[in-house]
Amino acid sequence: MDAPSLIRGTYWSHRLGLPLLDHPGETNQPMLAVNGERLELRHGSSRQRGVYVEFSLHKARMIQRQEGKNGLLTRAIGLRKHPSPTVWDATAGLGQDGFFLACQGCQVRLFERSPIIAALLEDGLSRGLVDHETQPVIEQRMILSQTDAAAAMHNPPYPFPADVIYLDPMFTKPNATALSKKEMQLLRLLVGNDDDAPTLLATAIACQPRRVVVKRPLKASPLGERPPHFSIQGTTIRYDVYLPEMM
Ligand SMILES: C[S@@+](CC[C@H](N)C(=O)[O-])C[C@H]1O[C@@H](n2cnc3c(N)ncnc32)[C@H](O)[C@@H]1O
Repeated sequence: MDAPSLIRGTYWSHRLGLPLLDHPGETNQPMLAVNGERLELRHGSSRQRGVYVEFSLHKARMIQRQEGKNGLLTRAIGLRKHPSPTVWDATAGLGQDGFFLACQGCQVRLFERSPIIAALLEDGLSRGLVDHETQPVIEQRMILSQTDAAAAMHNPPYPFPADVIYLDPMFTKPNATALSKKEMQLLRLLVGNDDDAPTLLATAIACQPRRVVVKRPLKASPLGERPPHFSIQGTTIRYDVYLPEMM
């Protein structure tokens, strides 16, 4: 390991309470690795490219293209009427949806409960802060809390309540998402299926934000079988929108 990687590796190993391995080789356990400037999650051969968090305007534009002309997610969030809401991204994952929303003008608080995924996010955010393209968006509109969003909603120490709470829990069956297949597989291996997502939805609704938005596979039943007020449908996914003040 070169000296800068050793310093970064030692830092993360202390922060996360994980052993620091010099030559890890093959592994059937997910493993964090320092690759130059970047923290990565790997599985299998150490030669394989890992999963890491990268924020770039290019990626945000790609998500916008996937979203189509009418912008599914931006419509679900209600951006036309309220252009810069505070959004709690309660299931931040690798932060791609959160970054996209921040690029659209939202103030985004990312909640991620897995310490490993949160470490990847923190690493991606700090690299994004020294990139002149992404720095203004990240500095002004994104903040990360490594905690369970449901606990934060029950006991909010945050000065800015959410206008919108966004949920994108792991789908039980693989489907279209902002993340690639490999990213989803590794995430699933690490965090499982987010089986408590229906409770998170109930907690989010009880917080009484203007909207709660849930990303679902197009054909799946609503989260926790709770019918939304309306849905915005794409070709493979849909966003179910709940309006707590109408409940
Ligand atoms: C499918 S991923 C989200 C992907 C994300 N939308 C993106 O664009 O990268 C779901 C993530 O939500 C996290 N998660 C699920 N329930 C949570 C909760 N109650 N609080 C915080 N994080 C949660 C999981 O650990 C997982 O990393």
